[in-house]
Amino acid sequence: MPRVKVLALCGSLRVGSTNLALLQAAKILAPPDMEFSIWNRQAGLPHFTPDLEGLPPPEVQKFRDHVGVADGLIIACPEYARGLPGAFKNALDWLVGGETFINKPFAQWNASPRAAEAQNSLRLVLETMSGRCLEEAALALPLIKQEVTGRGLAAHPEWGPQISLALVRLGAALRA
Ligand SMILES: Cc1cc2nc3c(=O)[nH]c(=O)nc-3n(C[C@H](O)[C@H](O)[C@H](O)COP(=O)(O)O)c2cc1C
Repeated sequence: MPRVKVLALCGSLRVGSTNLALLQAAKILAPPDMEFSIWNRQAGLPHFTPDLEGLPPPEVQKFRDHVGVADGLIIACPEYARGLPGAFKNALDWLVGGETFINKPFAQWNASPRAAEAQNSLRLVLETMSGRCLEEAALALPLIKQEVTGRGLAAHPEWGPQISLALVRLGAALRA
């Protein structure tokens, strides 16, 4: 059976990001039938303009291609001022005019369960872009203000199994 391809997008650029650590833990815990990669290169994308949608800069095309080959996405994104981080929204805007996001399944992960406004906004944006929300593979862990690492989270007696379970649910949803 071919491995299911998961691309995890991290909405935080912060050194020591808890959302990034969560995704790094998932990479460690990903089951053998899942290919798991992380993307957080939104700082390298130019500001979005519709003028360039049809002739995207190479780094934008690369991003679109990464998304295109993935069977599904995990998106782990913090809340800034009750909305999405600007750099990450900019990256999503570049996907709107491309072909590679159409009908893409996505699971929302979150390192801060109180960030409901950003999570609701993210879902609205992604569903407007024709994405399919996989609620059964959602995950929210209370990691805010903690110093965590991918290895530490993967080995955590409570959080490690929750991450593994969300991955299994995601894999099953993507194969269904
Ligand atoms: C500029 C800024 C604005 C923020 N605004 C909110 C907010 O409106 N609501 C909230 O719950 N947290 C807010 N936070 C806290 C972050 O969402 C929280 O620290 C998050 O877990 C950081 O994710 P990271 O560790 O992946 O960088 C804000 C943080 C920053 C830096």
